[in-house]
Amino acid sequence: MERTFIAIKPDGVQRKLVSEIIGRFEKKGFKLVGLKLMKVSKELAEQHYGVHKERPFFPGLVEFITSSPVVAIVLEGDGVVASARKIIGATNPLASEPGTIRGDFGVNIGRNIIHGSDAVETAQSEIALWFKDEELVSWDPTMTAWIYE
Ligand code: RTP
Ligand code: MG
Repeated sequence: MERTFIAIKPDGVQRKLVSEIIGRFEKKGFKLVGLKLMKVSKELAEQHYGVHKERPFFPGLVEFITSSPVVAIVLEGDGVVASARKIIGATNPLASEPGTIRGDFGVNIGRNIIHGSDAVETAQSEIALWFKDEELVSWDPTMTAWIYE
């Protein structure tokens, strides 16, 4: 089954949006398999956003992600990578549709509340970067038969 990596960024945690955000993914039908609150090291932030290291916003992005706690999440479900990106909304919250997390709660691209992996392969490497194997929990929600045919 497909997995994705989600991070509620420092602004989402500071603004008390953790339960709202996790609730949206739970209610959709995705399964939590990893969940932790953590301070992000500079090394982890730089690795996670390594593809952007030449971009002008990179230093500010690393500074921001390391500034305050983040909630790291792994979700599992059919098509979860693309579906979570839809639930999250466009990168710039002003362009995100209402009903998406960024569309409902954000205004500024540098404070867009949440990260979600952009492809299945990216998800695999991000999960390995953020979580140890033993931190991921395999379990069978009793509701599965009411979510999947
Ligand atoms: P993310 O990786 O955080 O889920 O966001 P994304 O895929 O929607 O967007 P991406 O292009 O990967 O950008 C990563 C994060 O960098 C910040 N950013 N700031 N100031 C700017 O012009 C700018 N552009 C991007 C955002 O926090 C974005 O989420
Ligand atoms: Mg991205």
